[in-house]
Amino acid sequence: MAIQPIRLFGDPVLRTPAEPVVDFDKELRILVKDLTETMMDAPGAGLAAPQIGVGLRVFTYYVDNTLGHLINPNLDLSSEEQEGEEGCLSFPGIVFDTPRALRVVATGVDQHGEPVTIEGSELLARAIQHETDHLDGILFIDRMDRAQRKLALKAIREAEWMGEPAPVVRTSPHSTFGRAL
Ligand code: NI
Repeated sequence: MAIQPIRLFGDPVLRTPAEPVVDFDKELRILVKDLTETMMDAPGAGLAAPQIGVGLRVFTYYVDNTLGHLINPNLDLSSEEQEGEEGCLSFPGIVFDTPRALRVVATGVDQHGEPVTIEGSELLARAIQHETDHLDGILFIDRMDRAQRKLALKAIREAEWMGEPAPVVRTSPHSTFGRAL
């Protein structure tokens, strides 16, 4: 198990769609462990494989004291939406309102290739949508309304980390109370 550096906005891997997992081997189990360790260390509520530089359709989440992972996800979204703040571990300190579906039913498989269904609402639904977006190269700034995105892009331009190489030691400078994704 190892905590991996989290890739920051600007790294092309975050805009690259990830590939489906086809090999359910030891390497995959190490990836799930690394994602889990890195997410818990941050701390964050979710982490997708591209955020640690791995282009596979895998994410982990830790919401309401429930730890889990999902591989090759497919989402069924409610038409009812939720408002609320959202952050991302690849955008330290950047937190803005981001609309999401209120409920989600996610299907996929676990690290052993066994079918999994996760039903969630509110923060869990938000996390699952955010992480699945990461697997498609979509970032939360893409989901904001025009006004919020404009504010977010300004904050990103002014952020200390913008254009910097990934720090070796991260100390969670953001005030997201472990809710960043
Ligand atoms: Ni994120």
